Amino acid sequence: MIRSSALLAGAAALAALAVPVHAEEADPAAIVGLQFAVSGNHKGVRASGAKGVCLKGSFAPAPDAASLSKAPQFAKTVPVTARFSMGGGNPKISDKTKATTRGFAMRMADPAGDMTFVIISAPVFSTKTPAQLEEFLKVRVPGPDGKPDAEKIKAFAAQNPETGRQAAWLNARPVPASFAGTDYWAVHAYTLTNAKGDKTVAKLKFVAADKAGLSDEELKAKPDSFYADELKERLAKGPARFDLVAILAQPGDPTADVTATWPEEERKTRTLGTLAITAIEPDATCDAATFDPVVDLPDGIAGPADDPMFAIRSPAYAVSLSRRSN
Ligand code: HEM
Repeated sequence: MIRSSALLAGAAALAALAVPVHAEEADPAAIVGLQFAVSGNHKGVRASGAKGVCLKGSFAPAPDAASLSKAPQFAKTVPVTARFSMGGGNPKISDKTKATTRGFAMRMADPAGDMTFVIISAPVFSTKTPAQLEEFLKVRVPGPDGKPDAEKIKAFAAQNPETGRQAAWLNARPVPASFAGTDYWAVHAYTLTNAKGDKTVAKLKFVAADKAGLSDEELKAKPDSFYADELKERLAKGPARFDLVAILAQPGDPTADVTATWPEEERKTRTLGTLAITAIEPDATCDAATFDPVVDLPDGIAGPADDPMFAIRSPAYAVSLSRRSN
């Protein structure tokens, strides 16, 4: 069903990516409209990750990273622009919120092609397809009383059990004590290609050097916004580090379902390098453009061509940028 001219614009953007996506599932403008609606249509902010902190740092590859990928970022240390954020489009969301992912967007710069990851503090995303995301969001739009219909949410969850995995995962763990105190997952399956043309399918995880969660008591004592101050204090003492780890696929691992985990502890891993976040940057550095995890990848690393949740992120992020810039 064609909904509006925005669908055509979105479809054109998807076609430009040359990634196969089912047209009936690709309405990025409608999805982004719903993301804004769910959070109360705040102006001038992102549809997701509305509350966040812009950062800079560097990425230093591990000595053997180049044996897996010929991307320039795996051959030498490169500068990084990054942003930590809280999930959703509410710029006033409490940092104490449990069932919301913390986000981490980063651009590892190189003249031959930036390497961009936009990742979350959970190994899974909430939905498997854009059509499912649209429905997931629709039932969460607040009614005239300012609240979503709890019965509709319940019915959707019962029919789409995989959409509850992310919240269950987050609810089973403490709230991170810091944006830098939790691991982040790229959730999609990437293909790494080395100079010989050998390919390796892997999920990518940024492992925090200093993981820390808050007990219920500690959480109660915190104000609603404490991550930005905590980060300032932390970075004044030294960089916040994350190891980039590739979790290698085994035959049969799902590569086009971001609601499905691989059993990480049973998979071989390779450390590809270390990200060091060194300082806070003015918001303007992060707000002028999007971090586009689909288009902004260099030769040597590619996202999954058959995962419709991957391809649609590029036009969706562009729609959000144009709405928040106007
Ligand atoms: C599948 C895995 C996904 C992950 C891990 C993810 C993660 C994130 C993160 C961390 C941000 C904040 C970015 C920043 O700080 O600049 C973000 C922003 C956003 N996400 Fe996603 N997202 C995913 C999928 C999607 C999908 C499928 C859509 C919509 C179809 C979507 C729509 C958006 C939008 C519109 C923004 C705001 C972009 C901007 O204005 O710059 N995301 N996402």
